[in-house]
Amino acid sequence: MDPTPGIHSRNDWHVAAVDVTGSTNDDLLRAAERGELVDRSVLRTDHQTVGRGRLDRRWDAPPGTNLLASMYLAAPGEHPGAVVQRVGVSIVRAVTALVGAAGGPPPATLGLKWPNDVMFDGRKMAGVLAQRSTAAPGIVVGFGVNVGWSPPEAADVAELVNVNPAGLLDAVLAAFDELPDDPAVFAAVYRAELLTLGQVVRVHLPGDLEFVGVADAVDADGRIEVVGADGARQTFDVGDVVHLRAASAGDDRDI
Ligand code: BTN
Repeated sequence: MDPTPGIHSRNDWHVAAVDVTGSTNDDLLRAAERGELVDRSVLRTDHQTVGRGRLDRRWDAPPGTNLLASMYLAAPGEHPGAVVQRVGVSIVRAVTALVGAAGGPPPATLGLKWPNDVMFDGRKMAGVLAQRSTAAPGIVVGFGVNVGWSPPEAADVAELVNVNPAGLLDAVLAAFDELPDDPAVFAAVYRAELLTLGQVVRVHLPGDLEFVGVADAVDADGRIEVVGADGARQTFDVGDVVHLRAASAGDDRDI
């Protein structure tokens, strides 16, 4: 990434902004491959022409409406999934902090759906996508947050508080730096933000397969453990999860 006039440092984050690009994830991955990135480089854009979502989906938004950004971490340390969890938690914490600063109560229904969707009132508000290149060290973690616009049936930050995408990025980066370094302590923080635990979920898997059960735990590698109607425990490291309802004492029998 070239040091452009738009680049500036913020608490050791090296933040650049561009009006339009294909995908901020792609940009940082290519720059990392060229050896041009320093640790904690961040790229934000007002508009992506080929924004990428999880599971090979697109991530689109009208120009200037939402937070579209990626960060590059040269030595992520913990398992890669933990960095993605940290970004998801940071988005939840940033929005909560902004709501609090505006005098509002903590949004009780704001949290994470496994693995890293930020949800508000059961609707998706933000997504996180990590990518690595075999030709570069480190990891790129991109995040898209609906700020002033959301697709049908999704949520946006404007429902809770007024902030612009750049201001929200500042809050996300600050929240990221406030998370505990210790992996075990952070794992507890992540679980506390995870709305999925204790829910009856349907896990959609590649190949049109699905599994229904109670989301019971997240293991040390970030995989979710789901207990089916027969009591069998299955572990998933990829898949789309749908929250069906909160689990109750009868769930072992009636799923
Ligand atoms: C998801 O599908 O839930 C993840 C969406 C991630 C979108 C962001 S927007 C900024 C960055 N650049 C991309 O191309 N994708 C991520």
